[in-house]
Amino acid sequence: MTTPRAQWGSRLGFILAASGSAVGLGNIWKFPYITGENGGGLFVLIYLVCIALIGLPIMMAEIFIGRESQCSPVGAFRSLSKRGSPWILSGWLGVATGLFILSFYAVVAGWSMHYIVLSLANSFDGKSPDDINAMFGDVASSASINVGWHLAFMAITIAIVIGGIKTGIERAARILMPLLFVMLIAMLIRATTTSGFPRAFNFVFGFHNEDLTATGVLEALGHAFFTLSLGMGAMITYGSYLKRNDDLVGVSLAVSVLDTLVALLACLVLFPIVFTHDMEPGSGPGLVFQSMPIAFSQMAGGGIWATIFFVLLFFAALTSAISLLEVVASYFIDERNWPRWTAAVVCGGFIALLGVPSALANGGAALFSSDMAAGPIGKDWMTMLDDLTSQWMLPLGGLFIAMFVAWRVGGAAREKGFKNGTRFSAMYGGWVFLLRYLVPIGVLAVFLNKIGVFAKLGWM
Ligand code: PHE
Repeated sequence: MTTPRAQWGSRLGFILAASGSAVGLGNIWKFPYITGENGGGLFVLIYLVCIALIGLPIMMAEIFIGRESQCSPVGAFRSLSKRGSPWILSGWLGVATGLFILSFYAVVAGWSMHYIVLSLANSFDGKSPDDINAMFGDVASSASINVGWHLAFMAITIAIVIGGIKTGIERAARILMPLLFVMLIAMLIRATTTSGFPRAFNFVFGFHNEDLTATGVLEALGHAFFTLSLGMGAMITYGSYLKRNDDLVGVSLAVSVLDTLVALLACLVLFPIVFTHDMEPGSGPGLVFQSMPIAFSQMAGGGIWATIFFVLLFFAALTSAISLLEVVASYFIDERNWPRWTAAVVCGGFIALLGVPSALANGGAALFSSDMAAGPIGKDWMTMLDDLTSQWMLPLGGLFIAMFVAWRVGGAAREKGFKNGTRFSAMYGGWVFLLRYLVPIGVLAVFLNKIGVFAKLGWM
């Protein structure tokens, strides 16, 4: 390589960019609704355990791989093993996963943009719950709205990735992440004044003999991967722009804690509103786009709060999308010597095209929605990609990453790398232990459940 590798401007810049990747639709859209579906308290506790014992060690492993190799995933696996080694397939798996995830992620992010416009126009005011539910149905099934916002969102993502590490990605994170926190805190303060807050708090943090199933436990584990952006090399890529003596343990802890905090705060923002307006916490994926607007429609100053809320969702999605595109683009930049802007435009353009079926998957075109769901696959295109990536590809990628660091990287290099520049050297033994044993067991449990083994044994 002729030019020296780009680097983050500072440790804080990295932490903001990496937590920008982690904090996304997963935290604000998905986590609250799966918490609602799984009955709250106990599910939250299990999720926290999964983050601490499985997510955090893998995050450290990813940042380790990136920081040691100073390469994006494909090159990273090559440089830490050897040319032609099968481990390189894990890098490829990561690039493919990033491509798939971003293609549908951008569609949901597009909904948040459309909802910003609806909020600004005060469109929920005075509408009945039925009207608002129907409004979401109309949005989701409109081909032009979906494709249009999807492409607009991809264009913004591409523009930031073209800007590069320091002046594109880090700068976006430095502006968007603090704004996101301020908006979240403002909404939280507002939520604490509502009559539903105590109930919501109890729902999220209390135990109430809920009907958590074993599948719920595995869902918590799967979500730990998605929410921390693990298993596809996003953290390898971001880690590769760190200096070799940056503290990998400290930054991993910071990013995991921030991500978890935002997920919990999102619940404390959403559920008080849900309970205050006597709605169902387990209403599924429509929680953010249906229940919340219904609540906004009944609230004083609802248009303003709705705008803040959807801008927050948009920012969260954008900083995550940037990392997804960066994984794909950095392959072409690092391995094929493409100029950054060519890589961003070509990869981003390809992903935008690949996303069109997802944009049509909620009614926009029968081929990708109802027909497909009625066919052998049994789900629409978007749900198919979501399930394929978050339930199979990310856990599989995470398993490979954990095994690579635990078994393939030489013990001395691993120990030296881990302890380089950190105050947390004492965690080394525990880290390797978790990567070697707990992570593989956890991931295999997810897969065995998926293929119905536990059900056949009568355990579930
Ligand atoms: N972590 C992001 C979220 O919670 C999604 C994501 C997954 C981003 C994988 C990058 C890589 O929304």
